[in-house]
Amino acid sequence: MTTNLQQDIIILAVESSCDDTAAAVLYNGKILANEVASQQIHELYGGIVPELASRAHQQNILPVVIMALQKAGVDKKELSAIAFTKGPGLIGSLMVGCSFAKSMAQALNVPLIGVNHMQAHVMAHFIDPPFPAFPFLCLTVSGGHTQIVKMSDYFKGEIIGKTIDDAAGEAFDKAAKMLGLPYPGGPLIDKYAQSGNPKAFLFPVPQIPDLDFSFSGLKTSFLYFIQKQVGLNPNFINENLADLCASIQFTIIKHLIKKIVLAAQKTGIKHIALAGGVSANSALRKAIQEEGIKNGWQTYIPAFEYCTDNAAMIAITAFYKYQNFDFEEMNTAPFAR
Ligand code: KG4
Ligand code: ZN
Repeated sequence: MTTNLQQDIIILAVESSCDDTAAAVLYNGKILANEVASQQIHELYGGIVPELASRAHQQNILPVVIMALQKAGVDKKELSAIAFTKGPGLIGSLMVGCSFAKSMAQALNVPLIGVNHMQAHVMAHFIDPPFPAFPFLCLTVSGGHTQIVKMSDYFKGEIIGKTIDDAAGEAFDKAAKMLGLPYPGGPLIDKYAQSGNPKAFLFPVPQIPDLDFSFSGLKTSFLYFIQKQVGLNPNFINENLADLCASIQFTIIKHLIKKIVLAAQKTGIKHIALAGGVSANSALRKAIQEEGIKNGWQTYIPAFEYCTDNAAMIAITAFYKYQNFDFEEMNTAPFAR
């Protein structure tokens, strides 16, 4: 695709949908810089405080953009377009990125490109080869969403399954909170689980029809179990942390894998991709690869830096949009959901 370009396409992308302020620079489909400033402040509150997130974006966005341009060796006058995350996400956070992108596009007199965050998680698969062949199924698992998307083309995606309550990342984070771990707990559960026994404690795998997901029942049964055990032994969590992490992780992954297997059976599609923050989970990455070998799938898992929120995925989506002349009006506004 990049070899047929009539002109160089250089895109600056910003992502500010949640608690990471990110900027990336793309040159003809290649990522030259991918910078992220994570916000530590939310750890103090055990979850994201939207007002604090917007303020931190406001402080971080310019330094992160300058850093990305410097690392890429690109001058702002060379940019072909400015891309930003239009939604879904926290509205105050999105507005920082949107306003920044608008001002920059206006000042440089270049097009503005709005990108859907969930679409970008899927499009992260087109940053580095091997690129998935169409049609493919993408299990997109993040802190706010859990979906199975059937992708027939770059911008033709159909959600064929989704969570009816919590997202997979939320299930990880809430379980971690019950164990007294700081936010975001997903990566910590992953870490502690590595030395635990996934079958030490059995939790019910959610039973829900078709290709949908549900995590709220599992969350409740985990909470009741912990409360009961701590009532019997106040040191229960400390003494069993690794096994608890491994067991809850095992159950969450079992539910995810069951549904993607069912989706592959129903659609007959054997190209299976994983995306979103939870796709950084080491046990999920391993499970989908093993399942792929068992079922003759071609599996696609993005590099770690493109799993959790990043601006490279916004840049690559914008690269394809640019070629379709899919630009935003200057009076555009972000959307929360
Ligand atoms: O895609 P993402 O960075 O932000 C959203 O769009 O929501 O996903 C964040 C989610 C959080 O819930 C975080 O705990 C989870 O991804 N996560 C993980 C891991 N790394 C990030 N969950 C389990 N294991 C991990 N290694
Ligand atoms: Zn995300």
